[in-house]
Amino acid sequence: MIKPIEGYSKLSKEQKIDWLTNNYTSDPEAAKALLKRYWNTAKDVQQLHDEFIENTVTNYYLPLGIAPNFLINERLYAIPMAIEESSVVAAASKAAKFWLDKGGFKTEILGTEKIGQVHFMYRGNKDHLSAFFEKVKPKLLSDTSSITKNMEKRGGGINSIELRDKTNALDNYYQLHCTFETLDAMGANFINSCLEQFAKTFKVEAQSYSLFTEEEKAIEIVMSILSNYVPNCLVRAEVSCPVTKLKEGNTEASKEFAEKMVQAVNIAKVEPHRAVTHNKGIMNGVDAVVLATGNDFRAVEAGIHAYAAKDGSYSSLTHATIENGVFKFWIELPMALGTIGGLTSLHPLVKLAMEILGNPSAKELMQLVAVAGLAQNFAAVRSLVTTGIQEGHMKMHLLNILNQLGATEDEKNTLTHHFKKHSATHSAIVDAFEKLRRTK
Ligand code: MEV
Repeated sequence: MIKPIEGYSKLSKEQKIDWLTNNYTSDPEAAKALLKRYWNTAKDVQQLHDEFIENTVTNYYLPLGIAPNFLINERLYAIPMAIEESSVVAAASKAAKFWLDKGGFKTEILGTEKIGQVHFMYRGNKDHLSAFFEKVKPKLLSDTSSITKNMEKRGGGINSIELRDKTNALDNYYQLHCTFETLDAMGANFINSCLEQFAKTFKVEAQSYSLFTEEEKAIEIVMSILSNYVPNCLVRAEVSCPVTKLKEGNTEASKEFAEKMVQAVNIAKVEPHRAVTHNKGIMNGVDAVVLATGNDFRAVEAGIHAYAAKDGSYSSLTHATIENGVFKFWIELPMALGTIGGLTSLHPLVKLAMEILGNPSAKELMQLVAVAGLAQNFAAVRSLVTTGIQEGHMKMHLLNILNQLGATEDEKNTLTHHFKKHSATHSAIVDAFEKLRRTK
C-alpha cells in the first residue's frame, strides 16, 4: 500500500519523479523516460516552467495554431490559438475567410469595470452600520494609497465602495461591494490587495467607533476576494451582411441558410441543453486565445457562463437577426483580461503571441477574444445547419485516429487523400486502414 508522503515539495525534481513513478506507475523506467522527453532542452525555459507551479515534473504540451485572415475593425489579424481539439483552428480560419470579403468583424468595448467584495457578518443595528460605513469610507481609501498609487498614475484605481445589506439572503450577511479600473492588468492581485486592506481597516476602525455596542464592534470578516463575474467588463463583436451575399449567386439558398442560422440561435436561447453545447463551441475559440495569451481561462469561463444565465435561465451568448434583408450575428461577453503582468511577461510563447497580435491593450485583446468566440460559433452552427458537424470534424480528427492505429507517414498520406472524397466515420477510417494494410 502507498503511504502518504511528507515534504514532497521539498524534494528535488529527480526525487519527486522517482517517488511518483515508483509508487504510481507499472513501468517506472518508461514513465521516467517519458516525463524527461517532455523537458525543454533549453535550461532557462525549463526552469521557468518548473517555477510556474509547485511540484513540476514535466511540461504538458498543447499545440499552438494560427487562424489567419481575421479582418477586425479594418485591420488584418492572425490569431494564435492553444487547443487540443482538432477542428477548432480550422473552423476559426474558415469563418475568418468567410467574413473577409463581407466587411469582417466589428467590435466595441461596452465597459471595463472589475469587481471585488469583502464579505462579513454583523449582528446589530443597521443604521449604526450605515453610519459607520460612511465615516470609515475615506479611511478605507487612504489606507490603500500605497497599493493604488501606481495604478492611479496610469489612470486606474478604485472606482467605488458600497455597503450592501445581504441579510435577506443570509442572516447577518453584509458586503463591501467594490468596483475597480485595472487598465491593462487583469487586476486580481491589485484588487485582492485592496480588499484585504479594506477588511483590515474596517475591522480595526469598528473597535473604536463610538456608536457601536460591544456586540456590534465584533464585525466578523469572512473573506475578501475579487469576483470573476464581471458583467460590466463587457465586449461586443458583430458580423453582418446582406442575406443575398451569404451563399454567393444563390438567393434562395442564402435565405434558407440565414433563416436556419437564426432558428438555431433562437433554439439555443430557449433550450439550456442546446445552449450549453452552443456556448461550448464559443468557448472553443475564447479559451484557445485566452490560453495562448497567458490569461486565466478558468476565470473567463466562470464569468461567461454566469453571464449566460444572467436572466434566470442558461441561454445563448450569441444572437442573430434578419432585418431589412441584412443578416446580423453578434456576441456579448464579459471578461477580465490582462496584457501586462502575470504570465504575459514571463512565458516566451505568450510574449510571441502578443507580438503576433500587435501587442494589444487589454481592451483590444478582449475584442480579439470575442471575435474568436463569435467566429467559432458561426463555423459550428453553419456546419450544424448545413452538412452536419461530423463531416468536417471527422476529417480533422482523421490524423488522431490514424496515429492511434499506428499508421506510418505513407499510410497517413494515402488515407488522408482517400477521405477527401469519402465520408470519414470512425469505423470507415479503421476499415480503410485495415484494408490498406492487407493489400500490402
Ligand atoms: C464541439 O467542440 C463544439 C460544437 O458542439 C458546438 C456546437 O454544437 O455549436 C460543434
